[in-house]
Amino acid sequence: MLKWLEATAAVIEENRQYLTDLDSPIGDADHGINMDRGFKKIVSKLPGVEEKDIGAILKTSGMALITSVGGAAGPLYGTFLMDAGKAVAGKMELSDDDLVALLDAGLKGVVRIGKTNLEDKTMVDALHPAVEALRKACADGKDTIEALHLMTDAAHQGMKATIPMLARKGRASYLGERSIGHQDPGATSSYLLLKTLMETVESNPSA
Ligand SMILES: Nc1ncnc2c1ncn2[C@@H]1O[C@H](COP(=O)(O)OP(=O)(O)O)[C@@H](O)[C@H]1O
Ligand SMILES: [Mg+2]
Repeated sequence: MLKWLEATAAVIEENRQYLTDLDSPIGDADHGINMDRGFKKIVSKLPGVEEKDIGAILKTSGMALITSVGGAAGPLYGTFLMDAGKAVAGKMELSDDDLVALLDAGLKGVVRIGKTNLEDKTMVDALHPAVEALRKACADGKDTIEALHLMTDAAHQGMKATIPMLARKGRASYLGERSIGHQDPGATSSYLLLKTLMETVESNPSA
């Protein structure tokens, strides 16, 4: 979990301009800036929770996002991490089923706070198919790495599927029809988060 959060901060920093550029035609050109600020804040809090359980690490990280990021993404991803943490409170390691429960709780938190659902052209359009793909892969008995690959592929498809969508939530919804044809920045950052989770598990097989 610590490695994932650190790796995500690095990936977000690398993609700061890309995420901000995606937020330019259908938003206010700050998504990369918001996410980079938030994940740097998370990394600054990690030394204080290194020895704690995974639920506590996620809770602290979610709080860090909520308190440091203005804009929609801070509270949304902050809730994602806090609710994900509640689902695995007290755990020092995660089974595949725990991972599904963690991500599912995070997704449900975003849906609750964002009052959003599928095909509103938001991060939910990447997160939802990804969680469902992971759940199915685990139920089908795939090993963890393969299941995480299937999750990442589904997140990528979900991200791409936002391009033809008409935005119904957030700033992009102010554009109405003009939001069509652009990839959603939040769905893109969600894909990056989940891809980084897959890569973190893959490069730390003992973890
Ligand atoms: N109500 C919502 N529910 C879920 N996700 C949302 C909602 N509103 C916005 N988003 C996501 O947040 C992203 C924009 O984040 P960001 O640019 O950081 O915040 P802001 O829109 O306040 O500038 C969008 O691309 C979208 O994925
Ligand atoms: Mg924005």
